[in-house]
Amino acid sequence: MYAQMVKTDANKVRDLSEMTEEERAFQARIDRGEKIEPTDWMPEGYRKTLIRQIGQHAHSEIVGQLPEGNWITRAPTLERKAILLAKVQDEAGHGLYLYCAAETLGVSRDELIELLHAGKMKYSSIFNYPTLTWADIGAVGWLVDGAAIMNQVPLQRTSFGPYSRAMIRICKEESFHQRQGYDIMMKMANGTAEQRRMAQDALDRLWYPSLMMFGPSDKDSVHSAQSMAWKIKINTNDELRQKFVDQTVSQAEYLGLTIPDENLSWNDEKGGYDFSEPDWSEFFEVLSGNGPCNRERMEARVKAWEEGSWVRDALMAHANKKEAAKTAAE
Ligand code: 3HC
Repeated sequence: MYAQMVKTDANKVRDLSEMTEEERAFQARIDRGEKIEPTDWMPEGYRKTLIRQIGQHAHSEIVGQLPEGNWITRAPTLERKAILLAKVQDEAGHGLYLYCAAETLGVSRDELIELLHAGKMKYSSIFNYPTLTWADIGAVGWLVDGAAIMNQVPLQRTSFGPYSRAMIRICKEESFHQRQGYDIMMKMANGTAEQRRMAQDALDRLWYPSLMMFGPSDKDSVHSAQSMAWKIKINTNDELRQKFVDQTVSQAEYLGLTIPDENLSWNDEKGGYDFSEPDWSEFFEVLSGNGPCNRERMEARVKAWEEGSWVRDALMAHANKKEAAKTAAE
């Protein structure tokens, strides 16, 4: 049933005059800044958009464990290993809060996971790039978690209560993630010539994929206008990308690293940096399943799901047994 709901209508903001009375009352609640809770009435499009966005976000947290998990056994010190392990566990927790938030909208976690594995739901494009060196783990924390925070801090004010509350908790943890990444980059950038070269190489490879995390440019964004009218999204993709660049340039300067963009320059008039757009054809290729690691990522997730089925079965059997014992005692 949900499979037909994944594709939402192309971006079109409904005019007040086209709305039913119920829809107008709903929009008025949004405009007053009220939170919408799962048992409240909501338009079907609002529900679908949230399931799509929260589901995609949850999948990103789960798939996002793979590129970093790849380095747990190879972290250079015991302390770095413990930190990375904690970070990867946090991402699993974020995925779980978000699946729970999506479940309040009437879709099950199993359905969402089935759609992901069938290639019918997306996860963030960034996780289809490899982590080739230890410096990549620094750059992922610094840039990828940095971009995630830029997107997620405003989402703490999103109109759907469970999503907004999940974001408040997630953002606290993400800021620790970003700092641990920057800390690795500081060590690498101030280390040997070889470590410095690795840090620059990680920045060179991950810069544009990080910019792509904010989604296509506003003119190509299918959902932004309606999502902003519903206050599901608070900013456009381009606004957040600009803020990210403005924040990150001085951080790169502090590290003594060079952002791989010859067009990067401060623009006094707009009070922000001018910068080169990512290669959008690469972005759409990654979204269609043809990024460097798409197949590997999905194979790893499907394998983990299948091999973990006995754990899910055992937990269900235990829960059913406990429930039956409780009923018998009543
Ligand atoms: N990767 C994959 N797909 C993307 C994407 C990206 N970086 N950016 C956009 N898309 C997809 C959209 O899902 C949509 O496809 P669909 O219609 O099939 O769902 C299409 O491209 C058009 O994009 P739109 O701009 O119209 O889509 P949205 O309005 O949904 O905006 C978004 C995209 C900004 C990513 C928004 O969905 C959003 O803010 N999501 C919540 C945040 C999120 O998902 N973050 C994941 C980042 S990783 C993370 O948090 C893990 C952390 O540990 C690092």
